[in-house]
Amino acid sequence: YRTIDALDAQGKRVLLRADLNVPVRDGAITDRTRIERLCPTIAELANAGARVVICSHFDRPKGKRVPEMSLKPLAEALSAALKRPVAFADDCIGPVAEAAVAALADGEILLLENTRFHAGEETNDPAMAAALAKLADAYVNDAFSAAHRAHASTEGVAHLLPSYAGRLMEAELKALDAALGNPARPVVAIVGGSKVSTKLDLLGNLSKRVDVLVIGGAMANTFLAAQGHGMGKSLQEAEMHDTARAILDTARAANCEILLPTDLVVAEEFKPNAPTRTVRAGAVPEGSMALDVGPETEQAIEARLRGASTLVWNGPLGAFETPPFDAATVATAQVVAALTQSGALKSIGGGGDTVAALRHAGVAERMTYVSTAGGAFLEWLEGKTLPGVAALG
Ligand code: 3PG
Repeated sequence: YRTIDALDAQGKRVLLRADLNVPVRDGAITDRTRIERLCPTIAELANAGARVVICSHFDRPKGKRVPEMSLKPLAEALSAALKRPVAFADDCIGPVAEAAVAALADGEILLLENTRFHAGEETNDPAMAAALAKLADAYVNDAFSAAHRAHASTEGVAHLLPSYAGRLMEAELKALDAALGNPARPVVAIVGGSKVSTKLDLLGNLSKRVDVLVIGGAMANTFLAAQGHGMGKSLQEAEMHDTARAILDTARAANCEILLPTDLVVAEEFKPNAPTRTVRAGAVPEGSMALDVGPETEQAIEARLRGASTLVWNGPLGAFETPPFDAATVATAQVVAALTQSGALKSIGGGGDTVAALRHAGVAERMTYVSTAGGAFLEWLEGKTLPGVAALG
């Protein structure tokens, strides 16, 4: 792929695919990371004299104009972050969008309305891609976190205009390549979260590519139960036992060490500050459930991290949103941050809950790289080709 180093932006209309699908509660943006990470690309293009035309999806309006899913508030948020004006057009294609683009001077910035207000976005309708392409002379994709979607604005349009990766896309791809493409070894992966069933392909791919695969979170319960351990009333997926055993076999064949919990923090009830006990992984009492990995497991993870050069982290080790079940996640995150800061470890985290967990531990700024992507990060860990990246050539 080409980066915007190869783009002579002066006087050009540049269609910039962003991911402004930011978390919103009661009409207020609760996390501005995606906005902040996007700003360098916008500023660089505008400073180079481009007429910057930004498009993005927001939420899932399913091809209809849903007023609550308008991107209009994002124009103000972008303007505040960039400290320059950002105009807004009430549609992302057609006469309204065309007129707004035509009104731009060199160096000016325009945000278009939600691409998913048109059904052709998600069906990757060639007519929608052509209507987007008509707005610009060049296309820059800075939406790694939407690159797992083969939509008109992420994939179709890339075939119709000279296409480039934006700075955020470039940073994400470099970090991911350093983690799994061509990593410094040994590589440790920590995979947590609640379900084996949602991370099957991910576990399968990682077990072939990393040296140590640490499995935590409720999905570890499924693996432990599959090995015949009594798990009390722990959350687990009984129908996934065969699959869990198959994953362990694949890993063994690939010389990947799988590290499962040897001790667990259990409680009779899942509630904040519930009384807890630490038990052997094979001995969860009948009326108890595992909610975090124990201190012995935490030590074992730390030892692997001390011997590692690269870490890929997806998913918390325990029910971190409900203290004290955040203990192992927080302690491990602090070890990761210290090793990263000392230069001994390259640490890459991403995907859904992971960013929240790293923030909760206060280490998100001290990792080598934290991805802005949820689903796209997971699909990349699964070893899949992301259509939005592939289309950049
Ligand atoms: C995300 O937030 O992960 C991306 O913006 C993709 O959103 P989607 O899952 O609605 O396609």
